[in-house]
Amino acid sequence: MTRNSTPVIELKNVTKEFFLGKNVLHALKNIDFSVHPGEYVILFGPSGCGKSTLLNVIAGLEPPTKGVVRIRGEDLTHLSMSQLARHRREKIGIVFQQFNLLKTMNIVNNVALPELFRGVRRSTRQHRAKELLREVGLGEYYSHRPAELSGGQQQRVAIARALVNNPWILLADEPTGNVDSATAEEIMAIFHDLNRKSKRTILLVTHNPDYLHYGDRVLYMRDGEIIKSIEQQRSEKEIQDVRLTREARKLARESRRSELDAQARALHINPKEFHQEVDLAREILMRKRTKK
Ligand SMILES: Nc1ncnc2c1ncn2[C@@H]1O[C@H](COP(=O)(O)OP(=O)(O)OP(=O)(O)O)[C@@H](O)[C@H]1O
Ligand SMILES: [Mg+2]
Repeated sequence: MTRNSTPVIELKNVTKEFFLGKNVLHALKNIDFSVHPGEYVILFGPSGCGKSTLLNVIAGLEPPTKGVVRIRGEDLTHLSMSQLARHRREKIGIVFQQFNLLKTMNIVNNVALPELFRGVRRSTRQHRAKELLREVGLGEYYSHRPAELSGGQQQRVAIARALVNNPWILLADEPTGNVDSATAEEIMAIFHDLNRKSKRTILLVTHNPDYLHYGDRVLYMRDGEIIKSIEQQRSEKEIQDVRLTREARKLARESRRSELDAQARALHINPKEFHQEVDLAREILMRKRTKK
């Protein structure tokens, strides 16, 4: 993360009001924050607090009522509709809760589609799409159509598509909202790698507290305001530990001890350490159960 460079995103005093008949709904109230290159920021808050509205304002999909939105120093509020469309096409990658893939196309063409509108040659488009699909672990599925993939795999395709323009920032609105919890972990692991390994700047919305540890910073939202901003120092090891412990807890719930060695091998973990993790998780579970 580079703190002394121009922020990728900078919001100053941003307000968004929706007019519903005679009533005014204050969806965003005086929002101020910046996201720096390489940072991973999580936006967390209850339903209706304004998370999607904030993301839409940053993406240039909704104009703010008041305030300034700068993307790498450029003020979006001064752009025309066509300039805003270009801003989205060239600088922003967006992942939604619904995967929004085209059913009739294979996944390479789905990922390559945004490039079609940018006038990129077919062979270049396809090459780039395949490279990104490999990056999200779908290198073996090029000819598949979305319906032939699991929900988690479809969301990976959507992530690859969001990256095809090599965006300055990746915005994700509840990307784990439509998948089960194990798959959600996989999706979060992909965002983690995109940030740590590929140095992508990420702003991710969630209302699930289980995922907060992934962010360098968590912005807590309530009623259209950012009420708290917490910086987190998370080492790679800690992220791995949390993942492992959660995995272990799941196994402790579901598996027999005799099945664990195979699981440990599949996860490339020393079986002895793994048994210890599972025992610890069992203990935690037992304690929780006896408390109830
Ligand atoms: N286009 C719109 N017209 C009128 N009101 C809107 C519009 N979009 C959002 N709102 C209102 O603005 C507030 C914030 O909505 P928003 O969708 O940003 O919440 P959210 O935090 O994303 O919620 P969720 O977690 O349920 O997705 C809500 O009260 C919502 O009803
Ligand atoms: Mg929302």
